[in-house]
Amino acid sequence: MIMASTVKIRIDGRDFNVDAGLTVLKAAEKQGFRIPTLCSCKDLAPFSSCFVCLVEVRGAKGFVPACSTLVSDGMDISIESAVARRARKTALELLVSDHLGDCEAPCVSACPSRVPIRDFLALAAKGEYIKAAQKIRETMPFPGSLGRVCPRFCEKECRRTRVDEAVSICYMKRFVSDMEIKAGGPFMPAPGSPTGKSVGIIGAGPAGLSAAYFLRLQGHDVTIYERQKDAGGMMKWGIPDYRLPPDILAKECGAIIGMGVEVKYGVNVGKDIMFDEISKKHDAVFLAIGAQKTSDMPIEGRTSRGVVSGVEFLDAIAKGGRPEVGDKVIVVGGGNTAMDAARCSVRLGAEVVIVYRRSEKEMPANAFEVEEAKHEGVKFELLSVPVKVREEGGRLYFTCLRMGLGAPDASGRRRPVPIDGSDFIIEADTCITAIGQQVDGSIADNTSLKLTKWGTPEYDIHTMQTCLPGVFVGGDGATGADVAVRAVDAGRRAACSIGQFLRGEKVTGEAVKFNSSMGPLDKVPAEVFAGFLKQQVTRMPMLVAEKRTKTFEEVETGFTVDGGGHEAKRCLGCGCVEADDCKLREYCTEYAVDQNRYAGKRRGYENDSTHPIAVLESGKCINCGICVRLLEEDGSHSLGFIGRGFDTRIKPPFEKLLSETGTAGLSFASDACPTAGIADRKKYETKHVGIPGVSK
Ligand code: SF4
Ligand code: SF4
Ligand code: SF4
Ligand code: FES
Repeated sequence: MIMASTVKIRIDGRDFNVDAGLTVLKAAEKQGFRIPTLCSCKDLAPFSSCFVCLVEVRGAKGFVPACSTLVSDGMDISIESAVARRARKTALELLVSDHLGDCEAPCVSACPSRVPIRDFLALAAKGEYIKAAQKIRETMPFPGSLGRVCPRFCEKECRRTRVDEAVSICYMKRFVSDMEIKAGGPFMPAPGSPTGKSVGIIGAGPAGLSAAYFLRLQGHDVTIYERQKDAGGMMKWGIPDYRLPPDILAKECGAIIGMGVEVKYGVNVGKDIMFDEISKKHDAVFLAIGAQKTSDMPIEGRTSRGVVSGVEFLDAIAKGGRPEVGDKVIVVGGGNTAMDAARCSVRLGAEVVIVYRRSEKEMPANAFEVEEAKHEGVKFELLSVPVKVREEGGRLYFTCLRMGLGAPDASGRRRPVPIDGSDFIIEADTCITAIGQQVDGSIADNTSLKLTKWGTPEYDIHTMQTCLPGVFVGGDGATGADVAVRAVDAGRRAACSIGQFLRGEKVTGEAVKFNSSMGPLDKVPAEVFAGFLKQQVTRMPMLVAEKRTKTFEEVETGFTVDGGGHEAKRCLGCGCVEADDCKLREYCTEYAVDQNRYAGKRRGYENDSTHPIAVLESGKCINCGICVRLLEEDGSHSLGFIGRGFDTRIKPPFEKLLSETGTAGLSFASDACPTAGIADRKKYETKHVGIPGVSK
C-alpha cells in the first residue's frame, strides 16, 4: 500500500500534518479554517484573479493567494493576523471600486425603518394587499399610520424620479393597510414561543410599541408603563385627526397590544412607580419616554393669557377639546408641530399667521405640510421673530423683528440675524408656540443613568444600550424630538439588542450589511433608465379645500383600487437579484469594506437581457473568469474576456448577444458566479427585481 506523503505546516499558531500537493486553501479548509474565495471554483484549476484569499506565509515576499499556493513542509501560515485580514480587505475594496450596482433598492436604504419597499409593492401589484401589509410589518408595524404621516425619505431617492416622478411609496403603504383593514385586519404575525424573560417598556409611543411588537415576535413578555390613558404617544397626542384618523392609529396600536402586551395606563414613572422597581421586576428595560416637554419662548410677557404651547394645544384637540382661539392666531415656529397647530386653528375658524425666524427653505416642517397649510389659507411672516408680547384688553400685541440670514450654524441652516430698527407689531387673540420640545430627564433621578447636557440618557447609538446593564433607550427620549418613523425604527433596533442581551449573547445590535450603490440619484448613469416609458403618477384624492378647513375629517381620502394597482406597477424593482446570495457582498460585510476607499472610474452600465436563461450585468462582474472557464470546459464557449486591461469585459464573442449563443452551461455559470455578473433570469421574477433594460 502506498501512503500519501504528508507535510507539517502551522496555521495561525497550530501545527498540522496535511497531504502534500494540497493548496493552502484546501489544507486549511480540511482543518476547519475559513478563507474567503471568489475566483476559485471546485470544478476548475486555480485562476488567481481576485486575491481575496491572500494569507501571510512566514519568509515569503508579500502575501500569497491560498487558492493557488501549494503547501510545503514547515510552512507557517497566518490567516487571521491583522495584516492578512487587511490585505484581503484591500483586495475586496479594489474589486468594488469600479463595481456598478445597488445591492439594496435605494428607497430601502433611505427609509429609516428599512421597509422592504420593492417587495411590498410587488405584492400590491399582484393585488395581494394583506401580504403586502404583512411584508411591511417585517421591519415596521405601523403601515397605516406612517403611510399617512411619514416625511417620505424613501421617495426622495426613488430611481423612478429619473424616468418621470417618484413612486408614491408612502401613500402605497397606507393603501395596502387600508385594504387590509377593509378585509378585517390588521393581521398580525403570531408571537414567538415563550422565553420566560420579561421586558419593561416605559412609554407606549411609536418607539415603545414598535419594541413591544418585535420583542413579542421573539417570545418575550412585555409590560408597558404609560403615563397617558391611551397608547400612541406623539402619533396620538401630537398629530391631528385630519392627518391621522384616531381609529387607524387605535387599530394599529390595538393589534400590537393584542399580541399579548400588557399596558399599565395612567402610570407616571418616577411618581407612581420608581424606575428601580421596574428594573427589578423585568429582565431588561427599554426607555421610550419621548420628548414632550415644551421649550419655553424666551421673551418678555410669554406667560400672558392666550399664549399656549403647541404640544398642549394639540393634546387638547386630540382629547376632543375645541379650544376657543378667537379670530386671529399667531403660531411661532417652522416645524411640523407649528404646521399642525396652524391648520387646527384654521379649522377652529381663525385667521392664522405663522411667524418663523428663517426663510421657508430652512423650515424643518415637511414641504408638503407647508404647502397644505398655505392651501388652507395660512399666512407666513418669514424671517421674523417675536421679541416681546403684551396683553391689553384681551388681545395680544407682539413686537417682532425682521431677520437677515447670516452664516450657517451647527445645524447647517443659515443663522438668523436681527435687523436693527425693523420692529413691527402683530395683534392676535391666541399665540401658539411651537419652537421645540425637550426630553424630561427626571426619570433618571435617583438612578445611575448618565445624562447628556440635553437631559437625554447617554447611550451607544448602534446597540442603544445605556451605561446600566440591561437598560436600553430609543426614540425621541434618546435623540430629542424627531419624526415618528425614526422612533419606530429605534424600537425595532432596540428589540434586536434586547434580544441579544436576554439570550446572553454579546450585544452587537442589528447587523449592517455592505451596500454597493450606484450613487446619488443624479449620478446614476442615464443608460439605466433608457427605454423606460413615462407613466402618470397616481394623485392622492383630497377633500376640497372649502370642506377641509371646516372639519377635522381626513384630508387625503386614499387611493382607489385602480389607482393603487397602477402605482404599485410603477416600481422599477431596484436592488440586486443576488443581494441575499452574493459572495462579494458577504465578504464586504464581513470585512467592513468601504466602497469608496479606492473610488475610481466605475464600470459603465452594459447589460444583456436577451437570453431566456440568464442575464448579464457587466457592472457587477469582477472578471473572476469562472463563467468563461466553465463554458470553455463544456465546449460551448458562449462567453469570453473581451477587451484589454481595465476595460476587459465578459461577453459573448464576436459581438454576439447572449441569445445568439447556445444555452448549454449557462445555468451552471450563473449558479457558480460569485456575484450577479451573470444571474438566473427566473430569480428576477421571484425576487421582484426589474430585468435590466426591460421597461415597466
Ligand atoms: S453583485 Fe453583489 S455586491 Fe454587486 S450589487 Fe449585487 S449584491 Fe451587491
Ligand atoms: S422604483 Fe421601486 S424599488 Fe426603485 S427606488 Fe423607487 S420604489 Fe424603490
Ligand atoms: S460574470 Fe463570470 S467573470 Fe463575471 S463575476 Fe460572474 S462568473 Fe465571474
Ligand atoms: S485569488 Fe484565490 S480565490 Fe481568487
